[in-house]
Amino acid sequence: IDASAFLSALIGWYERHGRDLPWRHTHDPYAIWLSEIILQQTRIAQGQAYWERFMQRFPTVQQLAEASEDEVLKLWQGLGYYSRARNLHAAARQIVAQGRFPNTLADIQRLKGVGPYTASAIAAFAFNRPAVAIDGNAYRVFARLMGIHTPINSSEGQREFRIVGERLFGLNGHATTITHRGEAPWRTANSALMDLGATLCTPQAPACPECPLEDQCVAYHAHLTDTLPVKQKT
Ligand code: ADE
Repeated sequence: IDASAFLSALIGWYERHGRDLPWRHTHDPYAIWLSEIILQQTRIAQGQAYWERFMQRFPTVQQLAEASEDEVLKLWQGLGYYSRARNLHAAARQIVAQGRFPNTLADIQRLKGVGPYTASAIAAFAFNRPAVAIDGNAYRVFARLMGIHTPINSSEGQREFRIVGERLFGLNGHATTITHRGEAPWRTANSALMDLGATLCTPQAPACPECPLEDQCVAYHAHLTDTLPVKQKT
């Protein structure tokens, strides 16, 4: 499957079946960054209320930076993985010291608590940059679609899946002609990939007959959806 066929099937499906999530109604990089940090280890059903509370208490990155760490930790209470909250607070101070929110993939990734996945998500969602955010959902979609047996948690797998993701998104120099509402499609394409993985291409009992990529899916045709993705024991 080439990038334009992949992207048009994915985005066409998302137009009808994508989830309506509050952080998709903003392009504010602060709001989007906050959502990604909360959602790193937290489900949407739980994380959404925390995101709303943080946005209400700290509507801007300046206000978050000026808060005490204690207050940030208190608002975080119940989400777990408290290093996320400490990094969030430290990164808010980094951003304020820089004078603006970083707007390139490389600079976003220099923020505390932001790895390759989160940086790609922020670059795409906030700035519509050409990036593919590869989380567990994306690993599953790519492994099944392309029939990839390389373990997703091996360094070889991480390299291979990044290359596959970049090729499917048309980020490897072969410019795609796909746009979405007259713009580059990266914001939409990344939302669509997450939603496809979360709602159809699920770990158990995927809804293949409803999938816009069923015809092109190696795992579907080879009866491998229960086998892929492969994860190696650690
Ligand atoms: N998981 C991580 N980031 C997400 C996002 N922006 N939307 C939905 N699920 C997510």
